Amino acid sequence: RFAYVNGRYLPHDDAAVHIEDRGFQFADGVYEVVTIVGGRFADLEGHLARLDRSLRELRMPWPVKPTSLRLIMRELAARNGVRDGMVYVQVTRGVAPRDFRFPADTAPTLVLTCRRSRFQTARQLAEGVSVITIPDIRWLRRDIKTVGLLAQSLGKQKAAEAGAYEAWQVDPDGTVTEGCSSNAWIVTAEGTLVTRPASNLILNGITRLSLLRIARDLGIPVEERPFTVAEAHAAREALMSSAGSFALPVTRIDGKPVGEGRPGPLTLRLRAAYLADVG
Ligand code: PDD
Repeated sequence: RFAYVNGRYLPHDDAAVHIEDRGFQFADGVYEVVTIVGGRFADLEGHLARLDRSLRELRMPWPVKPTSLRLIMRELAARNGVRDGMVYVQVTRGVAPRDFRFPADTAPTLVLTCRRSRFQTARQLAEGVSVITIPDIRWLRRDIKTVGLLAQSLGKQKAAEAGAYEAWQVDPDGTVTEGCSSNAWIVTAEGTLVTRPASNLILNGITRLSLLRIARDLGIPVEERPFTVAEAHAAREALMSSAGSFALPVTRIDGKPVGEGRPGPLTLRLRAAYLADVG
């Protein structure tokens, strides 16, 4: 297995960054996860556009030109022989003596890893996955895809310990913001697809954006609005979306079945359409 670190392809086990990298000390970095499906990058343009936005919001320069990053991503996937999996891209502000303020002239650190993955198991697809709900304890710039993921890590660990696949984070007003590494959706009793609008309170998922476009193309009624946990419990279907989970049926929330407790037809239709679109 190979990784990429600042201009070099290295055996994955030998790849390293300096102990004073600001990603390590301040989570002063951003990232993207891009799925490779059948040898093709899913939603690559969207992920590069969001990386550009994240970098801009944190006033960080591109570490290499976007066209070079595309080539590095392809080269790394090829060197690893990955046709179904993910590429992880991380940019930090770089290495500098520890100081909260930005260093004056430090080159960013660019790291890429790549791995094969099977995405979902047959069982997850046949039965759907379960989620728990937890308070959203994150900061108020969740729209930036930073490597500051401690709240999400705690949430996912809690989910795992509860035998669940994901944790949906809930703001103090009772509305679901999003999962720890995915966006959250429901289908109402009337058949309307609902997901929270993009704002500083969620990460605007690239898969989310593609699913919204696909749903509108298919003539499915869509509403971008917050929904509560109670509404999710009463929904006909629930689903989550992310790079790698695509559109994945959520069939239990806090131990209670959603609808009939089986993957819903609209979710499965969206998933198939998404995969046909990228694959
Ligand atoms: N996570 N919301 C959060 C908080 C996320 O971390 C992610 C993605 C998403 C979905 O975004 P997208 O559709 O662009 O993947 C929503 C990635 C997969 C991760 O951290 O591994």
